[in-house]
Amino acid sequence: MVIGGVHAADIADEFGTPVYVTDEQRLRDNYRRIYEAFSKYMDTRVHYACKANTNLAILRILEQEGAGIDAVSIGEVLTCIKAGYSPKRIMYTGVNVSDSELKAVADLGVMINIDSESEMERLARIAPGHQVSFRITPGVGSGHGAKVITGNKGAKFGIPLDKVIPVYSRAEDLGFDIRGIHAHIGSGGQSPEPFADMTEVLIDNVNRLSDLGIKLDFIDIGGGIGVPYRPQEEEMDVGEMAMNITDMITEYTDVKTLVLEPGRYIVCDSTVLLTRVNDIKDAGVKKYVGCDAGFNTLIRPAMYDSYHYAAIANKFGKACTDKFDIVGPICESGDYLARDRPLPDPKEGDIVAIYNAGAYGFSMSSNYNSRPLCREVLVNEGRAELIREAETPEEMWRHQIVPERLSR
Ligand code: LLP
Repeated sequence: MVIGGVHAADIADEFGTPVYVTDEQRLRDNYRRIYEAFSKYMDTRVHYACKANTNLAILRILEQEGAGIDAVSIGEVLTCIKAGYSPKRIMYTGVNVSDSELKAVADLGVMINIDSESEMERLARIAPGHQVSFRITPGVGSGHGAKVITGNKGAKFGIPLDKVIPVYSRAEDLGFDIRGIHAHIGSGGQSPEPFADMTEVLIDNVNRLSDLGIKLDFIDIGGGIGVPYRPQEEEMDVGEMAMNITDMITEYTDVKTLVLEPGRYIVCDSTVLLTRVNDIKDAGVKKYVGCDAGFNTLIRPAMYDSYHYAAIANKFGKACTDKFDIVGPICESGDYLARDRPLPDPKEGDIVAIYNAGAYGFSMSSNYNSRPLCREVLVNEGRAELIREAETPEEMWRHQIVPERLSR
């Protein structure tokens, strides 16, 4: 298996495992594909949803490509500023956030996408006249599972539809600099229809606001574009989706700019997780391949029952001998990376590659079982570079304090 012109097994040997390996060219290609699909029809800003992956080198690459940022916390905002993004290119969409966080974000000059009436009233006191848009609850949801659908009626996110007009009117009375309207239906949906349905709801509200004299600069359709994880799955036709959505917006509104916030689409297939086989077990009814990455490293299978394709990197093209569960070092039976996968005679020392690990992989990893966060490597044109060191045990306990009376 070769990634970015480098043998995966060599990367594992040189840098150690587990390790996330990102192909720079794929990242750039993904960004360009989505940007070009929409921008050929109307003025488009792609705000990368950095919650999917906040590695500074990856953020740098996307900054070079011209991306903006969708950030959900002051931590993400500061990380992106450190990576070189101007605050003007960042949009902050928090949910249930504190006054102090709102103040810190506003003080940096970052636009705030308001999630609730409560947030609006609080922000009016903290940062009067600030640049804002509003996240509405479109009543349309979509996603790869119930845990990631966000746009449905009654969701915890956004301004409920019946309150949208009064909220914008109130925002005007409060003196906010109102710029746009936003919705996000959910993450990982594979069908274009919900995106069109949501756009219709946004358009309806844009026009009702326009009738009241409230003109908007942009419509933000959020993120959520699904990608194939299984070998036979087809890609969503982003070109057609772009054509339909931009067509609706240009035909039925005066809004000039479209914003989108893809996370998964940009980073998902740019990255594989390499993990070394420590242990092989035949448990009778099941056979296990025990690796050094578990749900501390990649939580998606354990958390969402997500499918990630897996292969043995040093046995590419070899015939599969049996089916195995690929599991990790975490002391829970829910700790798995893949189930019932045909593999070619796995042995201790082999390198398992878990595909499509760039989105919500490292960014959701943890120290559970006191396992350090793992390394990240960037590959490009035959060169592999370390972009994150593995954490040390000292770093894992650096914020803990043992009271003097308990000291040894
Ligand atoms: N915009 C907003 C307001 C969001 O909440 C999200 C994702 C995105 C954009 C980007 O969505 P994407 O294009 O990546 O689908 N941890 C889950 C996914 C959670 C997504 C949360 N919000 C997973 O591993 O599948």
